[in-house]
Amino acid sequence: SEEINSFKVSNADDLESYRLRFIGRKNIIGDLFSQMRDVPNDQKKAFGQKVNELKNLAQSKFQELIESLNSDNVRDESHADLTLPSAKSSFGSIHPLTATRQRFIQIFERIGFNVSSGPEIEDDWHNFTALNFPENHPAREMQDTFFIEKDPDIALRTHTSSVQIRVLENEEPPIRTLSPGRVFRNEAISARAHCVFHQMEGLYVDKGVSFSDLKQTLYHFAKEMFSKKTQIRFRPSYFPFTEPSAEIDISCQICHGEGCNICKYTGWVEIGGAGMVDPNVLENCNIDSSIYSGFAFGMGIERITMLRYGVKDLRLFTENDVRFLKQFNSL
Ligand code: PHE
Repeated sequence: SEEINSFKVSNADDLESYRLRFIGRKNIIGDLFSQMRDVPNDQKKAFGQKVNELKNLAQSKFQELIESLNSDNVRDESHADLTLPSAKSSFGSIHPLTATRQRFIQIFERIGFNVSSGPEIEDDWHNFTALNFPENHPAREMQDTFFIEKDPDIALRTHTSSVQIRVLENEEPPIRTLSPGRVFRNEAISARAHCVFHQMEGLYVDKGVSFSDLKQTLYHFAKEMFSKKTQIRFRPSYFPFTEPSAEIDISCQICHGEGCNICKYTGWVEIGGAGMVDPNVLENCNIDSSIYSGFAFGMGIERITMLRYGVKDLRLFTENDVRFLKQFNSL
């Protein structure tokens, strides 16, 4: 039994010699059984028991040696079975909001826009005052702000127009920039609204920028983002930082005018706001409004993505349900 217990194997040949010696047809334990007939009768029982124990020990040690060799083989490439199928791993996919953001940037980069970013925690100046929100004006409440500190006010930015102020303060026209990013508003979460969502804002400031430039740029965008058939319309609106201001609608991408509850049977869906940059905003950033003019627009990336892929509930974007996310595997 000592010999069995101390037996070491490092490869299949060692294992085979163990097998031949202790298990195989002519093994040495078998020899002991054949010596049985020479054992005096009164000792036969004890002798038989001992030999049986030895036989069992040889068997269980054999199993142990096989297992130890197998586990070593996993690490030893020379023994790896390359014909075995590999472990299945599943791949992640691009998030639909990311896909829309990337497409957005691609469309605008081709017409000379760059991408800028700024902090999600903003001061009052960049989120409101520089954007021509008058002190104590109800327009500040229009945006359901999450304040972090009062006097001086620090808040989670309610739009990425704050980034446009940072660009206007730090760069000389001509300026063509896109500011994608997360924004925050104290709104109840529903299928159409969330307290955290993503915006894409655009800003173009140069000599002689006109409203027709804005219209044509957004028309181009709508055709590139959706389809050649997509129509666009402007409705008069109000924002403190643009004058004149407009709300942008596109023809409904879900029903194409047939009528559905996404467009509330109007055939049109709002995708954002836009307008000519108010001269006060340019002046606040030390840009001479008698020389320069500009347009700006802002859209929700969630809304665009819903229209693009027919997603009916924006909560799906943040629930991380793989059954939803997997549908975008091909992006
Ligand atoms: N900042 C506006 C909003 O968040 C959108 C907008 C941007 C409107 C630029 C006009 C011009 O609602």
